[in-house]
Amino acid sequence: MKKLAYEKPIINKISAGVPDKFGMSSTIQPITEIDKVSVTDLVEEYGSPLYVLSEKTIRNTYNNAVNAFKTRYDKVQFAWSYKTNYLNAVCNIYHQEGSWAEVVSGFEYEKAIANGVPGNKIIFNGPDKSIDDLTLAIKNESLIHIDHQDEFYDIKLITKKIGKKAKVAIRVNMDTGIYPKWVRFGFNLENGEAWAILNKIMVDDGFELVGLHTHIGTYIMDANAYGVAATKLSQLAVRIQHKYNHNIKYIDLGGGFASKNTLKGAYLPGSDTCPTFDDYAEAITNALEQSDIQYEHMPLLILETGRALIDDAGSLIGSALANKRLPDGRRSLVINIGVNMLFTSFWYEHQIAPAQLSSSHMEDTIIYGPLCMNIDVIREAIKFPEVEKGKHVVISRIGAYNMTQWMQFITYRPKIVMIDLDGNTHVVRENENHETMNALDRTPEHLKDFNL
Ligand SMILES: Cc1ncc(COP(=O)(O)O)c(C=O)c1O
Repeated sequence: MKKLAYEKPIINKISAGVPDKFGMSSTIQPITEIDKVSVTDLVEEYGSPLYVLSEKTIRNTYNNAVNAFKTRYDKVQFAWSYKTNYLNAVCNIYHQEGSWAEVVSGFEYEKAIANGVPGNKIIFNGPDKSIDDLTLAIKNESLIHIDHQDEFYDIKLITKKIGKKAKVAIRVNMDTGIYPKWVRFGFNLENGEAWAILNKIMVDDGFELVGLHTHIGTYIMDANAYGVAATKLSQLAVRIQHKYNHNIKYIDLGGGFASKNTLKGAYLPGSDTCPTFDDYAEAITNALEQSDIQYEHMPLLILETGRALIDDAGSLIGSALANKRLPDGRRSLVINIGVNMLFTSFWYEHQIAPAQLSSSHMEDTIIYGPLCMNIDVIREAIKFPEVEKGKHVVISRIGAYNMTQWMQFITYRPKIVMIDLDGNTHVVRENENHETMNALDRTPEHLKDFNL
């Protein structure tokens, strides 16, 4: 038997608070493999830090979501929210599964087109659409979700100029019982703004009103809020039908389903408390079915789910840089993953585990990133074993937003790999290096030389 390493004994004041109903959790299981691929092998081959995506988890989660809705309602269409993770490999998995694209900028629109998504299967959301973006979207028959009056007038001018109708929906904001309300996007329902713009659209022959859209917020823990949103959009659809004898084709309820991550300060883990896809589907489809929309005109239900589809599929492997004792006696662990690579650490308490068997002595630990900034804290307090310098940790459920909201700061962004269904690993994004970082820099001639 291998001789165990000596560990200095420590006396700990118990400061973790009262046990919850599950008792006091005192061990963390190491994560030694991701989809049966050894974490140590991954680091040896691709370096550390390393983002790892599981194709199996992406496809399984997607199919679970689709099944939850399609078993309750005939006409369902998912549109992959590009901003959540716009790696081409990721987008293409969703497109292979049948998902359309939901984009919020000219850049994301270009990406969807370059990935091969047909124009009429791209939903164009957001407040920032240039005249060029809108012109292209109209020509491609994309579904433009109007965010504000100015955009309505831009579209009106473009349709006159190019002589082609725009296929549009409006984004509606409303009170669904979720606070604060996301009222800065789209047109308000309760104050009549949404109805006013719909009337303008309906009497203008440059527009074809094809749908109604809302996105009530993100990480919504109350499935019933979606029932309220679906009811209110259905009522709006019926009102349009009565006044203009016009049936909209779809209702798009946006994204916002909670992933299984745990919010900071939450008492119980997100995996125990967040609604399931079935809960959301039940609330939404019940509301649609109970609406006054005529059976033969039941709309296509579009969902732009982001984080709940991809969070579980992403892991971030890092390494211990140092173990330190702070002046107040607390232990800290410095790892090579900073908040620049894990943007979501500002609001989630991610699951963090050592990547190898480690000591069973757990101690309250602060986990710091490597950046020279005091706010670079990955976790304020976690019961954690000692992780020797050079050994690895795995942070789970990081697939959403971290690979788009990351910041290039101080260090190069690392590689991203994907493990396919057969357990083979593919690099889906290269790491940055001196050359890639300098490719966009331009140094004026007079600043090129200096003598020190
Ligand atoms: C319009 C729209 N649709 C979809 C999403 C995806 O949201 P989530 O990741 O919460 O599902 C967002 C994110 O903010 C959004 O703004």
